[in-house]
Amino acid sequence: MMTLRTTFIDLFRTEPRNAFFAPGRINLIGEHTDYNGGHVFPCAITYGTYAVAKKREDQLIRLYSANFPEKGIIEFDLNHLNYATEDNWANYPKGMIRYIIEAGYQIPAGFDCVIQGNIPNGAGLSSSASIELLTGVLVNGLYQLEILSIELIKLGKQVENQFIGVNSGIMDQFAIGMGKKDAGILLDCQTLSYDYAPIKLENNKILIMNTNKRRELADSKYNERRRECEEALAQLQQKLPIESLGQLSEEEFETNKFLITNETVRKRAKHAVYENVRTIKALQELKAGNLEAFGQLMNQSHLSLRDDYEVTGKELDSLVEAAWKQPGVIGSRMTGAGFGGCAIAIVANEEVENFIANVGSAYREKIGYVADFYVASIGDGAKELEMEAVR
Ligand code: GLA
Repeated sequence: MMTLRTTFIDLFRTEPRNAFFAPGRINLIGEHTDYNGGHVFPCAITYGTYAVAKKREDQLIRLYSANFPEKGIIEFDLNHLNYATEDNWANYPKGMIRYIIEAGYQIPAGFDCVIQGNIPNGAGLSSSASIELLTGVLVNGLYQLEILSIELIKLGKQVENQFIGVNSGIMDQFAIGMGKKDAGILLDCQTLSYDYAPIKLENNKILIMNTNKRRELADSKYNERRRECEEALAQLQQKLPIESLGQLSEEEFETNKFLITNETVRKRAKHAVYENVRTIKALQELKAGNLEAFGQLMNQSHLSLRDDYEVTGKELDSLVEAAWKQPGVIGSRMTGAGFGGCAIAIVANEEVENFIANVGSAYREKIGYVADFYVASIGDGAKELEMEAVR
C-alpha cells in the first residue's frame, strides 16, 4: 500500500490527512444461515481495503480506486447521493454516505479519497462489504461522528439490500466491522449477540482456494435461495410458532417437514436447520480443542451446501473434493455465497506445499484453468490507521 499517499498527492495536489483499513472475511462454518436467523462463524482476514483521505471545504466527494484506474476519479456531491450505474464501484461508498446522513448524522463537507485493496477481485471474500465498512470508519474518523460499529454494520447491510439490490444477510458486514486478530466470531443472526472464540490452529494453516470462476448470476441465484427459505418458513408457520428456520432443532424439522410441499424447498430448509446446529456444535468442538471434529463438521457443511442447498457448482466441488483426499487436511468447505468464489481448507503446516501442488493440478485438469491459493491470517476489523502505516 506504499503508493496510496503518492497517488493521492498526484491526483489531488495536497497531503492526505487520515488513513483507514477494512478487512475482507472468510466464513469458517455457518453458510446461508444468517438470513435464516441462524448462527455464523466468520473471521476477518488481513487482506482488505486501505484508504487515505482529506476533508474538503465544499460539498464534493472525489474518489479514486487504484484497483480500477480506468474509471478515473469519480465525483459526486453530498446533496446528490443516488445510485448511478456509471459510478461503478463508487456506488458502495456513495450508498454508505447516503444512509449515514439519513440516519441523522451531519456530514458538513465533502472529502477527497484514494483507496486500494488487496482482496482478490470477485472472489467472494466480501470486497464490497469491505468498502462499505471502510467508508463507515472513514466518515466516522473525518467528522468525529462516533457512530457505533454495530450501526455501521447495519448501514452497510442496508447499502447492499436497498442501494445495490442484493438481498444479503448481516454476516459479511459484521465480520468486517467486529473482526479481531486470531479470533472467530460466533454470531447469532436473530439477536445479534456474539462471542469471540480464539482460533488455535496448532500446527495448521487456513488456506483460501480461489476458483477464479466468474460469479455470474450469483446475485439472482442468491435471491432465489432466500425466497425458497421464506416459502419453507411460511409453510412451517402454519403449525409452528417460529420466526425463523434458525429456531428449529433437527428433530423439530424432521417431525414437521411434511408441511413443506415442494421437495426442493424442503431440501433448502433442511440445510438451513442442520447447518445452524452444526455451527453451534463446531464452536463447542473448537473451544474443547477438538480440531479434528471441527474439520469433520466443515466437511459435512460442504456436502449439505452441495446436495441440499445446491450452491457449490463443479469448480468449488473440484477444489474441496481434491482437498479432502490430501494428507494433513483437517477439513475443507466452500466459503461465502458459493456459485464460484472461494473454498477454505485447514491443512498441516508441513503439507501446505504438497497440498497446493496436488489440488492445483487436479483442478486445472478438471476445470481447464488455474485456481489460486493464499494462506489466510485472521486480523482485526475496520479501523483508522496512523498515516505512517500507509507511507
Ligand atoms: C454472502 C452474503 C452473506 C451470507 C453468505 C452465505 O456472503 O453476503 O450475508 O448470506 O453469502 O452464508
